[in-house]
Amino acid sequence: MKKVMLLLAVVFFCAAAPTWALDNGLARTPPMGWNSWNKFGCNVSGKLIREMADAMVSSGMKAAGYQYIVIDDCWQVKRDANGNIVPDPKRFPSGMKALADYVHSKGLKFGLYSDAGTATCQNRPGSRGYEFQDARQYAAWGVDYLKYDWCNTSTQNVQASYAIMRDALKASGRPIVFSICEWGVDDPWKWAADIGNLWRTTGDITDCWDCTGVYTRGVMQILDQEADLWSYAGPGHWNDPDMLEVGNPGLSLEESRAHFSLWAMLAAPLIAGNDLRSMPADIREILTNKEVIAVDQDPLGHQGQRYRDYGDTEVWSKELAGHAEAYLLLNRSQTPREISLYVGKGKRVRDLWKHEDLGPFADGFFRARVVPHGVVMVKVLAK
Ligand code: GLA
Repeated sequence: MKKVMLLLAVVFFCAAAPTWALDNGLARTPPMGWNSWNKFGCNVSGKLIREMADAMVSSGMKAAGYQYIVIDDCWQVKRDANGNIVPDPKRFPSGMKALADYVHSKGLKFGLYSDAGTATCQNRPGSRGYEFQDARQYAAWGVDYLKYDWCNTSTQNVQASYAIMRDALKASGRPIVFSICEWGVDDPWKWAADIGNLWRTTGDITDCWDCTGVYTRGVMQILDQEADLWSYAGPGHWNDPDMLEVGNPGLSLEESRAHFSLWAMLAAPLIAGNDLRSMPADIREILTNKEVIAVDQDPLGHQGQRYRDYGDTEVWSKELAGHAEAYLLLNRSQTPREISLYVGKGKRVRDLWKHEDLGPFADGFFRARVVPHGVVMVKVLAK
């Protein structure tokens, strides 16, 4: 019996925990930045990217830890006679090197998007067959981050396809964060840790709280898909529940706050997807909440877990460095709910949205009234 238990434990451990991880030294905490797709789709240009880099600095987002400015699909139009990828000359008249230099001059990092197939999801040229040439080009331009999609891949082997670009990026000699985007179709959490720094786990996020489209998912749907994947995340290799919709029109302010808090509990990449140039102050406060960001960026790199499931309400927990713990109380329902959490007699908690210390609590229970589609997020204090 003991032997069987031991065998089961070994099998479980081998299946659950990646035994090695991509050794490029990058993304030791979940990457933070901005990406053009959620808000701008194909409407990208050098002007937009420069303005976004400026706004990243002036809004305080850079100071809060955001680094990468990533152009998603549609920056590329064709290949030249030598097979070199060509940026849209009308939309990016200065070319990519000058644009990357501008982003770098702001103390930020620069990212691009490509696809493992013959064409991107918007039918621009993909990298299939050009992986090493593209990686050399990205490095020459000063690219620091590559998001690599999975459209138009026909019968390609997924692991082999992503491994080619991993090797090409390595051969380029430039440190480039490698963001795998195959939508969780082939369980990338089981094989991607030694290939990429992060991997998408779901279809595309959209700016709604609770909805499912053909290819798109709401915040709650994505949360549920992520919930069981916690054992696969860690420094240098993260589950990616997709970019943030904070500040986009389909989410209320409370929903944006909940979405951001949940992503921090999940140790998710925090890649903003709104227009940083025209953010209202309350959205900026969400995206730059340093106490919540610190939970996401905690050096232990643990992904939070659903700790209690009461149906419409839930409690999530995340272990932090120094034997600390963050908790999030989530109300999925349409009416206010009281949610309680036993933290221990004499214990105090820090409310990470009110920026206040609360407690101690006579019976050891922290109780909070949580608004519909809202969260309360706390850290248990040592004393
Ligand atoms: C896919 C990805 C999205 C985005 C688009 C661009 O749908 O999942 O995140 O990059 O392609 O075409």
